[in-house]
Amino acid sequence: MLKTIKNLELKNKKVIIRCDLNVPMKDGVITNDNRIKESLKTITYATGKGAKVILLSHLGRIKTKEDKKKYTLKPIAERLSELLKEPVTFIDETKGEKLENAIKKMKSKDIILIENTRFEDLDGEKESTNNDELAKYWASLGDIFINDAFGTAHRNHASTVGIAKYLPSGIGFLMEKEIKSLSKATKRPKKPYVIILGGSKVSDKIAIIQNLVPKADYLLIGGAMAFTFLKAAGFEVGKSIVENKQIDYCIDLLDKYTDKIILPIDIVTSESMTDKADTKLKFINEIAEDEIGLDIGQGTIKVFKQYLEDSNTIIWNGPVGLYEFEPFQNGTKELLEIITNTKATTIIGGGDIASAAINFGYQDKISHISTGGGASLAFLEGKELPALKVIDAKK
Ligand code: 3PG
Repeated sequence: MLKTIKNLELKNKKVIIRCDLNVPMKDGVITNDNRIKESLKTITYATGKGAKVILLSHLGRIKTKEDKKKYTLKPIAERLSELLKEPVTFIDETKGEKLENAIKKMKSKDIILIENTRFEDLDGEKESTNNDELAKYWASLGDIFINDAFGTAHRNHASTVGIAKYLPSGIGFLMEKEIKSLSKATKRPKKPYVIILGGSKVSDKIAIIQNLVPKADYLLIGGAMAFTFLKAAGFEVGKSIVENKQIDYCIDLLDKYTDKIILPIDIVTSESMTDKADTKLKFINEIAEDEIGLDIGQGTIKVFKQYLEDSNTIIWNGPVGLYEFEPFQNGTKELLEIITNTKATTIIGGGDIASAAINFGYQDKISHISTGGGASLAFLEGKELPALKVIDAKK
């Protein structure tokens, strides 16, 4: 087992906590603060133990000087302080005297948030290429390193992997919760075990299918990726998204897992993708040439329900419709309603379906909604996460 924050003596120590505070923003305003909320437990535990807490996080991707204005962590510091009901000192630098002096003056229980680690990417992508000098510098600011940034655990960056090499390190509560929940569901699933896959591309899901489907009892397929499977099964799908290069792969899968793969039987179609789009409900053998399939239909929901209601483990990655637009939300909403009324352990992984579950009000009804997009995908694919590997190697 990985070392956790609980295994380390924190009193009066400068504890660097790497969080993933990469939250969605619009015009400088946070539109979903879930990742900040999920980071609170580790921070309050550390201050409660008398640590001096130094927080690191990235926000967005920094390619130009203009990006720095857009992706400053200042609004995040303000929201964090509101949620903690404690002051959070924001330092608008990623290194230098101002930062070092602020850290020197810290008292037990103080909290500092350092500016966006990816500002260092403007200088030769130092953060994202795990520059050793930068990692050593950040490590020199603290006594202990805690990684609580599950959302970034698949990245080999200076603030996630490099820094851990130079300090006694462990994981925080969020990281621990993510690993435990995702491991239990993928490695020791209680059967019947059902996987729902959606999203646009089959090619994005090949590794998940290979890793998870052999153990699963059923794979329910929705989203745009269903049309590549439907085409592989011999249906005409109009203007729906199809990955022609994946048709042979889908034919093989349908052949190999004939009883396991469950495809839609009806589809909500439209000729446009807007909030005001006119829709039609079509059986899969009725899709017209100019129609796009954009959600699963009522008949499919009923079929999927039969598999879901008796299951004991459900893993879901990728929305089953274009849920960003009102006319195509129903499939995703109804499946959320169905799975939250089963006895199953329900795990949601992947940025879009996690946002949909939260926005549609199912956050407290799902056993675990991962805070990771790419990271939860990597986990579900069975890949090793570099941020965990480095901490594990220090045992
Ligand atoms: C995420 O939002 O998936 C994580 O914060 C990682 O961000 P990245 O894909 O920009 O590395």
